[in-house]
Amino acid sequence: MHVSGFSKLSKDDKIEWLVNHYFNGSEEAKTTLTSYWHQDQELQKMHDEFIENTLTNFYVPFGIAPNFLINGKTYAVPMVIEESSVVAAASKSANFWLDKGGFKATVKSTIKMGHVHFIWNGSEKAQLRQFIAHINPIFFEQTDAITANMQKRGGGILSVNLIDKTHDIPNYYQLEVKFETCDSMGANFINSCLEKLAEVLKNEIMTSDLAPNQVEIIMCILSNYTPECIVSVEVSCPVEKMVEGTQLSSKEFTERFALAVKIAETQPYRAVTHNKGIMNGIDAVVLATGNDFRAVEASAHAYASRNGTYSSLTHTQISDGIFRFYLEIPLALGTVGGITGLHPLVKFSHQLLGNPSAEDLMIITASVGLAQNFSALRSLTTTGIQQGHMKMHLLNILNQLGANESEKQIIVKYFITHTPHHAEVVEAFNSIRRGEKLIQ
Ligand code: MEV
Repeated sequence: MHVSGFSKLSKDDKIEWLVNHYFNGSEEAKTTLTSYWHQDQELQKMHDEFIENTLTNFYVPFGIAPNFLINGKTYAVPMVIEESSVVAAASKSANFWLDKGGFKATVKSTIKMGHVHFIWNGSEKAQLRQFIAHINPIFFEQTDAITANMQKRGGGILSVNLIDKTHDIPNYYQLEVKFETCDSMGANFINSCLEKLAEVLKNEIMTSDLAPNQVEIIMCILSNYTPECIVSVEVSCPVEKMVEGTQLSSKEFTERFALAVKIAETQPYRAVTHNKGIMNGIDAVVLATGNDFRAVEASAHAYASRNGTYSSLTHTQISDGIFRFYLEIPLALGTVGGITGLHPLVKFSHQLLGNPSAEDLMIITASVGLAQNFSALRSLTTTGIQQGHMKMHLLNILNQLGANESEKQIIVKYFITHTPHHAEVVEAFNSIRRGEKLIQ
């Protein structure tokens, strides 16, 4: 079904068009959309204006994981996620580490990068290199207007370097630019600087001895790979304390846990799922705080492959009777700019965390990622994942079956002692509907 000028229609007309063309004019389809409109019209308008062609709002649960002791400070961490067991797992892990010193995290570096990708068809590479070095101060001068505010906050452009990529693509070079963007994620700032730098490069070459050799700017864009914007976080405790909440001896449990990490370090199939579990926690905090989870995901997985094979982002160490579990991950996060000052729940999240700096937020977010991985591995290497996972998913199944409150209560109680597999839940529900009693 084609439509032209859709974005110019009013919201009502957009819905009308959609419902008529894809839902046979169904009133129910229309109500599904309009029932999620916010009653506060100003607030709704703000949401409408976040993107193009907004029809309604899409609810995702907003929960908190309390008791996160991070660098000596306790946080209730906001998490936005649809997967049933994630917040429960994070909270369980936060509680486990609460009396063991909590999470200890450090921001190792905060440098971000962007590139001007260009073609230069001259043969005198040394001449080009000299020329770029010569005009380096001009790059800084000419971007001053864009960087002035960032410089006041302690950031700006750190360096501009020529990278020869002609071995990959004929005549292809990059201006590799490093940035410090302080508390902002910095995407717009970086891209604006890069576009200006490209203009400077082009103008300077045109009026130089290199002029007969044309420069062609291909594109200017930040890199979402941020291997120099890194946070590391760890938890540690004496091995004998690791046994809490499991049926195994401390030695057995710790060894099984370490082996599970080793498997993720060496086996890409496992590593992807292992890291996905880390990102369950990280994405939830990234979303709650109004950051770009796609950028964070892309960078994390690229970092996990930095040595040539996709591998685990977490690691363990056991020495002198101490178990240490740690994560190192790139996290380009911002606490100003974007929707951080606009979306009321995002603002709420920042307040809840004490209005953190970007570095504080990196520390908090990484801690939740490590906590998430700890909980997943603890379940996987002891009871299996389905026990906790299906317990949390039970209400989803019951809601799907249309169970009422009293049926839910009976069935939840029935499954306290064993794993609620889907077929068994359906059977229990049908039994109740047939008027039968559930026998443990
Ligand atoms: C599920 O969303 C995440 C896990 O699969 C992670 C893992 O296997 O480590 C439980």
